[in-house]
Amino acid sequence: MTDPILSLKDAALSLNGNAGRIDILHGITLDVRPKETLALVGPSGSGKSSLLMLMGGLERATSGTISALGRDLTALDEDALARFRRDHMGVVFQSFHLIPTMTALENVATPLELAGDRNAFARAADELANVGLSHRAEHYPAQLSGGEQQRVALARAAAPRPDILLADEPTGNLDETNGAAIMDLLLDLRDQYGSTLVLVTHATDLANRCDRVIRLRDGRIAETPAQDAAE
Ligand SMILES: Nc1ncnc2c1ncn2[C@@H]1O[C@H](COP(=O)(O)OP(=O)(O)O)[C@@H](O)[C@H]1O
Ligand SMILES: [Mg+2]
Repeated sequence: MTDPILSLKDAALSLNGNAGRIDILHGITLDVRPKETLALVGPSGSGKSSLLMLMGGLERATSGTISALGRDLTALDEDALARFRRDHMGVVFQSFHLIPTMTALENVATPLELAGDRNAFARAADELANVGLSHRAEHYPAQLSGGEQQRVALARAAAPRPDILLADEPTGNLDETNGAAIMDLLLDLRDQYGSTLVLVTHATDLANRCDRVIRLRDGRIAETPAQDAAE
């Protein structure tokens, strides 16, 4: 059995809000194997996004441990965690999160430049070609459709060849046709680069294209047979 690429042991997340402490995730124990594609499903508010943020080192667990590629994320300081994310994680969000003042090409090139890639713009152009958007390289996000913006966001996330791709309802703002096209692309990028993929989705058909489905309920993993996939 190969070592898991992601391993959570009894991970919990609580946040301190105005109304006091809110417990968001409880006792999450979960291993993800290298190159596995995992779907996270569950009702709105069940903790899917929070769990994805823990896996990506974007939120810190309140207790328990989270390791990625054998590194204990809970032991890293902020700088080390930021470097780890840069070197190993790609994240895609429902609302694209492109920088509005940058062209498509600049959006993809910027993280490569920050990582010290001297050929960032040439690489970014290749990545845009890979998602079929060469003809939109000089366009700004506001000049692109939702499906095109998400393709730019996928190119940006995949460009540094992350070991782990995390996608939080990447098709949630798209119609069915564009959503299916984004899912095809996400699975293509996974295959091309051998990434592990964790996908949050509400769509049963998309969840069923993953190797395994985990259902959350009230911040815990629910024991559910895999065929009963999504909401
Ligand atoms: N920053 C926050 N402050 C307070 N509560 C939060 C915060 N983020 C998430 N929550 C709460 O945590 C729960 C899980 O949220 P989330 O992970 O976004 O669920 P999902 O992605 O499944 O819809 C919800 O009840 C939500 O209101
Ligand atoms: Mg969410």
